[in-house]
Amino acid sequence: MEKRAYPLERLTSLRIGGPADLLVFPETEAELAAALARASNEGVAVRALGGGRNLLVDSRGVEGMVLSFSKLRGVRIGGNLVVAKAGTPLPELLGKTVAAGLAGLEGLTGVPGTVGGAVRMNAGSSFGTIGDRVRWVRGFTRGGAPIRFGREACGFRYRGSRLDGTFVTEVALDLAPAKGDLKGRVREIFLAKRRTQPLDAATAGCTFKNPDLPGGESAGWLLDRAGLRGRERGGARFSPKHANFLENRGGATSKDVRWLIDEARRRVLERFGILLELEVEVWNRSAVRDGVEAA
Ligand code: EPU
Repeated sequence: MEKRAYPLERLTSLRIGGPADLLVFPETEAELAAALARASNEGVAVRALGGGRNLLVDSRGVEGMVLSFSKLRGVRIGGNLVVAKAGTPLPELLGKTVAAGLAGLEGLTGVPGTVGGAVRMNAGSSFGTIGDRVRWVRGFTRGGAPIRFGREACGFRYRGSRLDGTFVTEVALDLAPAKGDLKGRVREIFLAKRRTQPLDAATAGCTFKNPDLPGGESAGWLLDRAGLRGRERGGARFSPKHANFLENRGGATSKDVRWLIDEARRRVLERFGILLELEVEVWNRSAVRDGVEAA
């Protein structure tokens, strides 16, 4: 299935984003490889859309092809090894593994998004990341050639990996039989998040990565002290509940959000001498050159 001029705001948790020239929904790996080959032959930009939960899309839209992974989903469990397709929502993966009595993914509690996007950015929390559990990752290069990386080759680091520019289709995870009350632990982590994070608002999760500071100050802490908590621009604002979350209160544009991001970076730099690095991925119309996303 494919759609032309599809408004991406419908597919992102921030509910911002203009039309994608072409949105393709491959249902098999062969269809995905064919779509990649087609984009490569036509010389158009191609971007992977997972859950759209960590993404700021230009309100003017993006050119070329966007590949949705929503039809490539499913989880297989064999002993302690779990194989999940890239489009599987993380809450579904967590629910199935917890129901099977397998521990190791508790760090993904309350983290939205899909398996493919999660491994690319090594999603997680202070309770652990998905990269900690990866055995291997399969997928394709931009040109449609198959790849398979072992854990080491993935180069997992804090909210990052070496998988940028690849199109992940399937991930194998090594889990372990749960000891103690796994469901209780997941519930506890979820409640802690709900206390501190605006889980019901339209956001893209944490906006900036936590800087690596000797005192351990987080991006949220720095933003809060620099006066950004609750700061508004157009339909967007830094959440009054947690300063590192940007909310769309209705009608926000990517320009509003970019303004707040720039303002926040400037203020934190002025006050603390620290340049915050974005955690959210930005799809910018003007940033694409020669089919490579430069944002
Ligand atoms: N804080 C403030 N003001 C704020 C927000 C936070 O002073 O407005 C303070 C808190 O009081 C606390 C400290 O900053 O002392 C850290 O805050 P929190 O415990 O909420 O954790 P965080 O470092 O802001 C990180 C991850 C989250 C993850 C949580 C829980 C990053 C950028 N953030 O948040 O991940 O859910 O820990 O494990 O790594 C994400 O990656 O999108 C994300 C939300």
